[in-house]
Amino acid sequence: MKKIQMIKNQPLSLISTTKIIQMSNVSTSYDSKNFALKGINLSIDRGTNYAIVGQSGSGKSTLLKLMNGMMISSNGTIKIDYVVPDMNDKKFKKMMHTIGYIPQSLGLIKNITVIENILIGALPRLSKIQSLFKRFPEHEIQEAKRILKLVALSGKENRKVYMLSGGEKRRVAIARALMQKPTILLADEIVSELDHVTAHEIMDLIADAQKQMNLTAIMVHHDMQLALEYANRVAVIKDGEKILEIGVEGEKIVDFQTGDMSAEEIMEMYSNDSKK
Ligand SMILES: Nc1ncnc2c1ncn2[C@@H]1O[C@H](COP(=O)(O)OP(=O)(O)OP(=O)(O)O)[C@@H](O)[C@H]1O
Ligand SMILES: [Mg+2]
Repeated sequence: MKKIQMIKNQPLSLISTTKIIQMSNVSTSYDSKNFALKGINLSIDRGTNYAIVGQSGSGKSTLLKLMNGMMISSNGTIKIDYVVPDMNDKKFKKMMHTIGYIPQSLGLIKNITVIENILIGALPRLSKIQSLFKRFPEHEIQEAKRILKLVALSGKENRKVYMLSGGEKRRVAIARALMQKPTILLADEIVSELDHVTAHEIMDLIADAQKQMNLTAIMVHHDMQLALEYANRVAVIKDGEKILEIGVEGEKIVDFQTGDMSAEEIMEMYSNDSKK
């Protein structure tokens, strides 16, 4: 009820520009038998930090792949910045270039240098000839150096990626995504397997980048605590379904999906879920 009143009070022009991802009753499968995701409803506000948490195999990576058009839904509707993902649609293909996607494996080219990996993010802006011969204009090289500094990798630009630590490799993957000048950053477990301090450094880095650009960050996490610390909203996925959508308001954890639940109930529900 409260939500409806809030929307009613907003001018229409504001409502139509706030949602960067909209999913309505979305299901998808890798084969004809099993659904990897079932009946997903979600909408993500532009410029926010959104997290997806859930057990291994629950469908988190699949959900991210739907958000950049790599996968197509079997049922339901998806809109990415008000455009229906379709690889045959020129408008969507152009938009895909501004979705910075960091896969769970990071997707870096290990035997080339840090700066060469970062510059890959600029390839869609080059002409065919420039792209073929990897001839980057000076302003793109300067931009790559600026981003290198932003991710605290100055001095390592000419190092081959295989020589970097796990945390440094993640910084390169973020830098390559930022080089795309993205409107959406999708990161799949980018801080999993990192120690607490490094994980926070990387998350702070993304939060800083978000402040500098009007960036929507959508990140898959394993650590619920970390997700709640940084995200405006956290979707909890279980067996392909979104079972909760929570966030911190003041001292409380609020469940936006299922109504009012206490922080204890939510944490208990999640930890019971994790033990199964
Ligand atoms: N390429 C694929 N072909 C067939 N099934 C797949 C494929 N990729 C994922 N799946 C299945 O879809 C379901 C969801 O997988 P997904 O990778 O989205 O899970 P996840 O939550 O990201 O897990 P993890 O935390 O281990 O990365 C799983 O049952 C998985 O086995
Ligand atoms: Mg995954």
